[in-house]
Order: sequence, then C-alpha cells, then structure tokens
Amino acid sequence: MSSIIASESSRLEGFIEVPGDKSISHRAVMLGAIAVGESKIQHLLEGEDVLATVAALRAMGVEISGPRGGSLEIKGVGLNGLTKPVSALDMGNSGTAMRLLAGLLAGQAFPATLTGDASLRQRPMERIITPLTQMGADLGATGGKPPLVINPVSGLKGISYQLPMASAQVKSSILLAGLYAKGGTQVYESTPTRDHTERMIAGFTGQSWEQGNPICVASGLMLNGQEITVPGDISSAAFFLVAASLCPGSDITLCGVGINPTRAAVLEILNLMGANIKICGQHQESGEPLCDLRVRSQRLKGIDVPRGLVANAIDEFPALAVAAASADGITRIRGAAELRFKESDRINAMVQGLGKLGIKAIEYEDGMDIIGGRFRSGTIDSRGDHRIAMAFAVAGCCNSGSVVVNDCRNIATSFPGFVETGCALGMNLVEKL
Ligand code: S3P
Repeated sequence: MSSIIASESSRLEGFIEVPGDKSISHRAVMLGAIAVGESKIQHLLEGEDVLATVAALRAMGVEISGPRGGSLEIKGVGLNGLTKPVSALDMGNSGTAMRLLAGLLAGQAFPATLTGDASLRQRPMERIITPLTQMGADLGATGGKPPLVINPVSGLKGISYQLPMASAQVKSSILLAGLYAKGGTQVYESTPTRDHTERMIAGFTGQSWEQGNPICVASGLMLNGQEITVPGDISSAAFFLVAASLCPGSDITLCGVGINPTRAAVLEILNLMGANIKICGQHQESGEPLCDLRVRSQRLKGIDVPRGLVANAIDEFPALAVAAASADGITRIRGAAELRFKESDRINAMVQGLGKLGIKAIEYEDGMDIIGGRFRSGTIDSRGDHRIAMAFAVAGCCNSGSVVVNDCRNIATSFPGFVETGCALGMNLVEKL
C-alpha cells in the first residue's frame, strides 16, 4: 500500500483485537530458538519486523513452522545450537531485531553480518557496540551505522552496566549476551524501560520474575521451550484509543491488549488529557498483564506530559501528538530526545506534518509544544515510518476534510491489516496502491 486517504469519520463503534505485541513477539521467537525443546507461540505479530527475526533464525539452522493465523512452532536448538548463516541477515526496518540479535550473536562461535533497509542503516548502533565490546565481543559498524559485523570470540564475560539512555533494546541486547557470558551481568537503568526480556527469560528458565534495578542475568542458565500467548500490542491500540477519543459519539472496545506497566503510560497520559478509557477484565497470560480497553469519545485538554511517563509511552507519541493537536490548549512534551532515533526523526516528522494540517507545533531538541486547533485537509509524507503514517491516518478521520498520507508501505512492519481494522470500527480509510 503506498498511500491512505483518510476522511472525516462519524462515530466509531465495535469490538476488535489488535495484532500481537511486536516487542514480545521478537523476544518469544529469539528465546524459543535458543531454548531446549519445542516452543509454541500464539497470537504472534505477523508483521514484517517479526518475520525478519523469524527468517534470521531460520538462516541459522532453527526449524520454525508458521506463522499461520498467529501460531508459530519453534524447535529450539539450545544455547549453542545456532549455525553460521550463509549470507548477511537482513533485519529490514527493525531496530529491535538488529539490536537484540546482536546481543544473542555476540558470543557465538561463528561470524555474522546484520543489515537492514535504508532507514535502519541510518540508526545508531554504538549504543550496543560499547557494552557488548566491554563484555569481550568483537563487533563493529562503519560510522556506528549498520551493517553490523560480528566476529566470533572465545567467550564473553559478564559486566555491570549503567544504561546511558532509556533503551530497552540496549538493555535486552546486554541481557541476551549475558546468557552466553562467564559471570553474572547486571544492567542499571535510571528510567525503567519495557521489561519483556527479563520477564520472558524468567519464564523460559522456570524462575519467578521479580522487578529489580539492576536487572540481572546469571551465567549458565538453561532455557526450556514454552507455550506463549502474545498480548495485543498497546502501541497499535494507541491509534484507536486516540481515534475513538476524538470522533464524537464513539464507543469501542479493544480486546486483549497488553498493559505491562512499562508500556501503559499512554493510558495515563490520555487520562490526564481527560480521555474516557476503562480497563476491564484484567488478567495475566504468559507472564504479562492484559485487559480489554473500552474507549468513549471525550473532549481532550492539553497537558504538560510528566517526564516520568515519557520512556513508557515512547512509541505512542505520534498518536499522542494527534490527540494533542485536537485538544483544548497546549500540550508540552519534553525529555523525549529518543524520538529522534526511531524509524524517522519523530519530533521533526510530527511537527512538520501537523503544520501541513494547520496545527501550530514548535520543535525542541527533546520534544515539542503542540497548540490544539482544528485540522485542515492536506498531504503528508510519512517518511516511511509506520507510526507516523498511522498517526496521520487518524488525524484524517478526525477532520472535516481529508488527509492523504503517502509512503504507507511500512505499516506492514507492525500492523498488517490496519486499514481493515480501522474500517471495521467505522474509520473512513481508503488504500491506494
Ligand atoms: C523496543 C524498545 C524501544 C521501542 C521499540 C521497541 C523493544 O526502543 O521504541 O519500538 O522492543 O525493546 P529503544 O530501546 O530504542 O527505546
């Protein structure tokens, strides 16, 4: 799909499931591959990012069947059972796949090269090269950008590492390398980031998970195959949380959405803006909390987003910026410089895009101010960023005219079926090939 035309939508209604969580899907595939025995994963995200992880592990000798209708079976090869890939591993658009696999491959006895698409080849890798090198790994990337070349080493050692930025990808890369290290590994974080890796390592090693700082991984752990059900992705749900809040008369329920506390700050931020979101039927599956989210439309107000919530809503700022653009008053976002290192520079992309739709927004090094108003019609370049594309598709539905969003192909990396799901709720979305 190259473009979406999004036009004024009347009330949204209905019950839907969003696709499986992207972060959890990557981790389930990786840990399943290096566990002993079979793992069965249900509700896996069949997006291109996760399929890149599946393809990379297949290329290293892991037998994987599926995914079919969200189910995937993996015959785990054990910690030391991966084999040398014959060519470079293409991680497509996925920073998570590249950074986490780099940790997994840092201690292997064979070389590997990780590459990706034009966007991924612009993203910073020094953040993982530094700690993995301290662990004894031999890896590098010209100018700190992919391709990332990993050479075999005779062994890794555990380290204690203070994360210099709030990044679950860096933390996870170190923890996965730590599985191969001699001696324990500890990662200290000043801001808690998504904790799916540590929860899932606990599940695969039969330990009970405890929240902690530092986050520790012992050496010589044994992972056993698991059955995992992946919760719905709150980052995908965020687009409908905002759309239903903004389209008058809406009443929708998003079923089975993951609400891990390190991911759910979007709910707190929308609640501070006055949104009407109810959490129903909360329960736990495969070590992760999930629930149904009922959203009814509500006039929103601008807020100063508390800095303490930023890291745990980092992927939801494109959607939140659209909410802020329709709210009464000013929304100020700060402490969010990491947004510049995503699939696009999301601070610049949102400020420029909102401007094209008649919304005043001011760019800061680590955030933006958005002055609420009324969208006018316009054309947006998503910059090949899936979340920018979906955010502006939502803006188009909460508009009295229409918005054309170009370069929407990468929506398939995280949310195949976005247009169909949105239309099922009543969003006025048309795909153009
Ligand atoms: C992710 C961590 C976040 C997030 C990304 C997925 C993960 O990236 O933006 O979409 O699965 O660990 P950073 O670790 O770079 O903040």
